[in-house]
Amino acid sequence: MIVEHLSLVDFRNYATAELALHTGPNVLVGRNGQGKTNLAEAVVFLATLGSHRVSSDAPMVRDGQEYAIIRARLSHGERKVLAEVQLNRQGSNKARINGSPAKTSELPRYAHVVLFAPEDLQIVRGDPSSRRRFADQLLIQRAPRMSAVLGDYDRVLKQRTALLKSARARGIRGEALSTLDVWDDKLVALGSEIIVARQRLAADLQQPVADAYASIAGADHQPQLDWALSIRGADPEDGEGGALESDGTLSPSMCAELFRASLLAKRTQELDRGLTLTGPHRDDLVLRVRGLPVKGYASHGESWSVALALRLASAELLRSESPAGDPVLILDDVFAELDADRRQRLASLTAGYEQVVVTAAVEEDIPEVLHAHVVRITAGTISDERSLAQDEETADD
Ligand SMILES: Nc1ncnc2c1ncn2[C@@H]1O[C@H](COP(=O)(O)OP(=O)(O)OP(=O)(O)O)[C@@H](O)[C@H]1O
Ligand SMILES: [Mg+2]
Repeated sequence: MIVEHLSLVDFRNYATAELALHTGPNVLVGRNGQGKTNLAEAVVFLATLGSHRVSSDAPMVRDGQEYAIIRARLSHGERKVLAEVQLNRQGSNKARINGSPAKTSELPRYAHVVLFAPEDLQIVRGDPSSRRRFADQLLIQRAPRMSAVLGDYDRVLKQRTALLKSARARGIRGEALSTLDVWDDKLVALGSEIIVARQRLAADLQQPVADAYASIAGADHQPQLDWALSIRGADPEDGEGGALESDGTLSPSMCAELFRASLLAKRTQELDRGLTLTGPHRDDLVLRVRGLPVKGYASHGESWSVALALRLASAELLRSESPAGDPVLILDDVFAELDADRRQRLASLTAGYEQVVVTAAVEEDIPEVLHAHVVRITAGTISDERSLAQDEETADD
């Protein structure tokens, strides 16, 4: 698919914005703080229903306004779809597809986007939550119904944890807390679905990640992906991830069984701490190269190669599974982070996608194969885009 046109109202630093995009490479250039990433973020929101920078939606609404609108005309070959979302500072967001009200969770069915950003280094170097977020966003892209499952799990988790906290405050012990069972059932049902889907995702990414890593790094360091599961006794959130990683993917029934057993085993501890200590919210996607965990061992360059490989593999996976064609690739400010070899390799690996959007503060950082359809961004205004050829004719302006 491609984004043919993006319109924004009161989104971040844009009062209004109209941006036409082309098939193939598109370049957004502008000095720091002008609004390049904001444009990328708006497109990503349609695909993942979230931002890669903030966990709540309010910061995306322009200062002093009540709501923002992101509207995109998408093209899947001959088929055009107008996807729209209103982000409300208060209350839930509202979506429209082709002008008719729709559930927001419908949007990822139409918008497929893979974003590469400097923050991606956090996927490999940051907390387990960054890796869970990476995986969950991809789960939603693969199967949009997962956004409801993930949302429901979060709600159940919050309610259950609130119950544990109030029980702790009132000094109630394990067996006396029968209401917990109801929440346990929901937690296990939703949580197992998430764990199984995440494990399948890691398995399906394994080969594409290995291929992408070899292409980017120019060497085969055998990257591996494995979930460290809290229901199997790993506790990455408390810094104990390494030892107890999975030995194969779980069936849904095995997963539910382990989950229940783990809840039972941790109940006393949970009441002591007022926390839900087991479940997909405590898991970690452990990444390795050369048999060693990337986090804590890999060099800066290797870490970047893994991060890029995860994004490239995501793009390959979506490309191979989606009848709607390629995802849109957005490369936000990544070339400045990379050495010359990785720059060239990344450029040639992405140039074949239906549509690529590249942002940069310094135009010279953009490799030649991606240097087309340049648009200039200045303080929340988008200047008429001109082709590179026209640009060169007026090189002195
Ligand atoms: N909710 C908001 N309301 C108004 N302005 C905002 C809001 N959120 C962010 N901004 C402003 O948007 C501006 C542009 O941000 P953006 O991250 O898109 O810049 P950029 O062009 O990607 O810069 P860089 O090259 O440094 O990455 C920032 O100056 C920021 O203050
Ligand atoms: Mg930026």
